[in-house]
Amino acid sequence: MNKIILAVVVFAFFYTSIASSKLDDHQWLLEFIEKNEIVPIRNEPKLLDAQYNLGQALFFEKLLSTNKDTACSTCHLVNNHTSDSLRKAIGAGGHNLGALRLADEGNEPLDRNTQALFNLDNNEVKKLFWDGRVEVDLQGPIKFLTPLGKHVPLGLENALAAQSLIPIISNSELKSHTCSLVGKEQDYCKKLYGNFKNVNESIWNLVYLSFIQHRLIGHSGNQGLSSVQKKYRKLFESAYPHKSNFTISDLANALARFQEIAFATRKTPWDEFLKGNIQMPEAEVKGARLFFDKYKCNNCHSNTLFSDFDFHSIGVVSLKKDKSIDEGRFEVTDNLKDFLKFRTPSLRNVTLTAPYMHDGSIDSLEQAIYKHFTGCLPEHDYNEVCTRTLFKYKDMIQQNEVIVLIEFLKFLEDKTHIIEDFVPSKVPSGLTVDELNTTDVLN
Ligand code: HEC
Ligand code: HEC
Repeated sequence: MNKIILAVVVFAFFYTSIASSKLDDHQWLLEFIEKNEIVPIRNEPKLLDAQYNLGQALFFEKLLSTNKDTACSTCHLVNNHTSDSLRKAIGAGGHNLGALRLADEGNEPLDRNTQALFNLDNNEVKKLFWDGRVEVDLQGPIKFLTPLGKHVPLGLENALAAQSLIPIISNSELKSHTCSLVGKEQDYCKKLYGNFKNVNESIWNLVYLSFIQHRLIGHSGNQGLSSVQKKYRKLFESAYPHKSNFTISDLANALARFQEIAFATRKTPWDEFLKGNIQMPEAEVKGARLFFDKYKCNNCHSNTLFSDFDFHSIGVVSLKKDKSIDEGRFEVTDNLKDFLKFRTPSLRNVTLTAPYMHDGSIDSLEQAIYKHFTGCLPEHDYNEVCTRTLFKYKDMIQQNEVIVLIEFLKFLEDKTHIIEDFVPSKVPSGLTVDELNTTDVLN
């Protein structure tokens, strides 16, 4: 009899403790959300205005590259979640698209993985690129710190606009080392490269930007414009009806406008849950608790975009083309505390943008999570420098925990961003539009 009572008591104890731990996770999460005032992402209606139309044309326009062979969309494939599926990006002087893209002979991939372009309009985003080399500095005299230094043009509206100019002047991104055009343009381009390329980098950048601007809209006063220049002038005039002279900042602001509208991803289950519209399944709740409580991933992957937009090292060390170590943020600040640090990536839509990390060295989310627990590889020459700057968890994570963490990351995914309307069927130059077929991507 006593045994039976004991069995019942033990059973009741286990039952209630299992039930209460389930309730606990849920209850814990609700309290955590309330205490930390976690809110859904802002969701303004998309305004497809004339500035957006201009930006859309420019994003897919190969006239932005020296030899008319590369556009922003060549690497940021809209139908491939704004990225290219490559470990390291291949720009001017490459062929094929997406995972099949290869560098032509004599060219090499860039040093870093192509970042996705989701939600960069958000006010939280004040530093762009893996190393933050484009940064808002509203207190300073030039407002934006960029590789253009003090020559950054006036009139840029935000960090995203300042960023847009950098791929244009970056070698092997949109810019080529040599010109291979035809006719008069080839003569002009060659002369430009001959006269300026090795003179002074800041001047060369400005001269080069005005070459690209001229190619699109010609000089002011509508004389002698080609039909393509006339089309672009019309687009600029509609986008900026109060202006008669256009600058490279007008081009940059339009590119930013297109990206902030087209790549805003607002329909995640997480946001719907925060609005009280849906329930959160059990595995996802467990994952959320591991994320916010046990492992405090949100120490870095914080706020609405799941990034602090600050710089950390989790031990991903990579070599550049020239075989030197990619020093990350240190290359921008020259401050030793920034050695090997990279900007925390946002985790919205991270499920869709493999491979991972600044060097694209990690193929799966599972391995990306493990990397935070394993850190620098002991057998590498740079192990010592790496361990000095490294963040690493003390205890190893369990495999079943990784699985539920990934369930939580899937809760941050918004597939509805793939809308074919964002890809134009043609651009004013008539050059091909680089994009993958949506059916290839979705299957
Ligand atoms: C050769 C491929 C390639 C081309 C072409 C290219 N990008 Fe990128 N983009 C990248 C890579 C690689 C990075 C990350 C570079 C780094 O951090 O050093 C990046 C980063 C960015 C970022 C920063 C994202 C963030 O989270 O900080 C933005 C914005 C962006 N690109 C927009 C553009 C625009 C606009 C164009 C066209 C004017 C363009 N890109 C052309 C490969 C490319
Ligand atoms: C100390 C700050 C920090 C913490 C804590 C942290 N991360 Fe990260 N995470 C980073 C940084 C920095 C990177 C990029 C590293 C690089 O590219 O060199 C990264 C990369 C990632 C990536 C790859 C994303 C991409 O687009 O390449 C995933 C996924 C990720 N973290 C998930 C997590 C999870 C889950 C946790 C908790 C278990 C976590 N992180 C904890 C800083 C952190």
